[in-house]
Amino acid sequence: MNDLPTTDPALLSLLDLARKAAQNAYAPYSHFRVGAALRLTNGEIVTGTNVENVSYGLTLCAERSALVRAVSQYGPEIRIEAVAVANLNDASSPPCGACRQVLSEFILPDGPVIFPADDGPRTLPFGELFPLAFELKAK
Ligand code: THU
Repeated sequence: MNDLPTTDPALLSLLDLARKAAQNAYAPYSHFRVGAALRLTNGEIVTGTNVENVSYGLTLCAERSALVRAVSQYGPEIRIEAVAVANLNDASSPPCGACRQVLSEFILPDGPVIFPADDGPRTLPFGELFPLAFELKAK
């Protein structure tokens, strides 16, 4: 994979915001506290955290929480230019498959995604992380 450098100061400060958001996690079942920060092309930054549910299946991931907030606040035309994900568990946590599919409708293909990997933060362009998004092309 073609990793991008993880030294970009703007991306590192987005990562800080993701870490701060993780402090608000509602994760009484997994104790896995995740935060996400989205930088939008309109210059705004929107954060989110995971919100678990006793049913387990209704749990919302941090990335999708942030996305839903972004659309709710700024409308359906938003575009995401960078994503940061953090967790407070010192664990690897790339965005899950469901979050990648949902992000794919709003993120620029080359938008960098910084996330915790085994040896510290890792940055990949979104298109590398999720090359074949589902598209609806009914005939
Ligand atoms: N989680 C996220 O917030 N983002 C992901 O991409 C994967 C998992 C959350 C959901 C759940 O609350 C906890 O991490 C453990 O799966």
